[in-house]
Amino acid sequence: MNGRAAIVIFGATGDLALRMLYPSLYFLHADGLLPGGLRIVGASRSPFSDAEFATKAEAAVQERADGHFSDATWAEFKRRLSYCGGDASEPEMYVRLAGMLDGADEKIFYLSTSPSLYGAITRNLERSGLSRGDARVVVEKPLGKDLKSCREINDALGHAFSEDQIFRIDHYLGKEAVQNLLALRFANTLFEPLWNKVSIDHVQITVAETVGVEGRFGYYDEYGAIRDMVQNHLLQLLCLVAMEPPATIDADSVRNEKVKVLRSLRPLNGGEVGSKTVRGQYRAGVAEGRSVPGYAQEADGKASDTETFVALCAHVDNWRWAGVPFYLRTGKRMPERSSQIVIQFKSVPHSIFKGQDLLANRLTIRLQPEEEISLQLMNKTPTLETARGMELKPLSLDLSLDDAFKGRRRIAYERLLLEAVRNDPTLFVRRDEAEAAWTWIDAIVAGWSKAGIKPAPYVAGTWGPAGAYALVERDGRSWYE
Ligand code: BG6
Repeated sequence: MNGRAAIVIFGATGDLALRMLYPSLYFLHADGLLPGGLRIVGASRSPFSDAEFATKAEAAVQERADGHFSDATWAEFKRRLSYCGGDASEPEMYVRLAGMLDGADEKIFYLSTSPSLYGAITRNLERSGLSRGDARVVVEKPLGKDLKSCREINDALGHAFSEDQIFRIDHYLGKEAVQNLLALRFANTLFEPLWNKVSIDHVQITVAETVGVEGRFGYYDEYGAIRDMVQNHLLQLLCLVAMEPPATIDADSVRNEKVKVLRSLRPLNGGEVGSKTVRGQYRAGVAEGRSVPGYAQEADGKASDTETFVALCAHVDNWRWAGVPFYLRTGKRMPERSSQIVIQFKSVPHSIFKGQDLLANRLTIRLQPEEEISLQLMNKTPTLETARGMELKPLSLDLSLDDAFKGRRRIAYERLLLEAVRNDPTLFVRRDEAEAAWTWIDAIVAGWSKAGIKPAPYVAGTWGPAGAYALVERDGRSWYE
């Protein structure tokens, strides 16, 4: 990006913009990563002046910057900011916006609004001529509630922008530890020969949160954990673990491989949905040392069948993964915030250490709160008192990425905004990916509805309903927590 460019943030006073986008842009600026000529235009309904908008953004950045805020840097950054108030669904706003952007060679429109506005915004961008030339659009989830609504959004976006101008965000792809999965798999020779059904017994992917729905009931109740988390974040993690090595790291090579995984997922419908998936909803309990209300109380007592927890067993039907279960689990009000991928290797085929329990090797990739990789190996203990022969013990090789790379941990949006500015879509979700993920999710949701499967209760601060344990124990396995 050279010359004059602008990012327009629709939904400029919303939660995402304040918590993530301005702090991320500020840090990119502070690190000298934003092009000099890049302007940032906030666009929303509030009748702010430029100065009032800057003050609001400054407060948000200060809150997030956590000791990394500098008045001098803010004073420089602030020069990039301006504001355009108005109703994004009306053409009038775009006349003023066009005036403000006059002379910008490159325009990035970041739609940090409700998806119900995407159609109106893109239509207005098109009619006003703003989508012409070097322009791109960045969109946030939820990209629909199902395949049909996702297609409608994609069609609306596709009317004004070509696919290579559309950047669909899954913020998990901006996380360092998630990108490191590519490095772990494809920058090392060690794992790849073992990364298949011959050596791997199963894979577990857990994304556990301690928070509840936090004032987002209106949104969440329509979506539930399967659409809010599994359709996007968990399936993206599954793709990065399961995909074939791409020929290059360019956007299409990587995304082609991810789509192949999504299309190889065995549909969970019919009878399978009852035995291979578990839905849960939290009741009152204790989370992070304090009493917390149940989901129904957060809904003012309204009865709801929305799940706040999902566990399921997926299969990737291809040569590499035939017969290897992928257990996925995510929930709110879990005992701890923890996201991890566990690759459980198979046991040794024959043990020469009689009377000793040999635990199979296990590779754990922790994504948050810490970024760590650990590999469990069997070792000999140094004791001499072994009438029975060698005494063995599992120990792990631990790599802390937080210790190896000290410094401020970046917000996932920093990476994503930078890639959007650089016009590199590798870390964004392509249309066919989003739609393939919805196809698989829709079958599960339809199966639940057909079989009348309601969420089972679990106490806040626990690892979900008993059925989640049964899901893996039936296969002779257990969750690693
Ligand atoms: C969002 C979901 O996409 O991801 C939220 O809508 C969830 O419900 C959040 O809390 C989790 O993100 P992170 O980065 O905190 O793991």
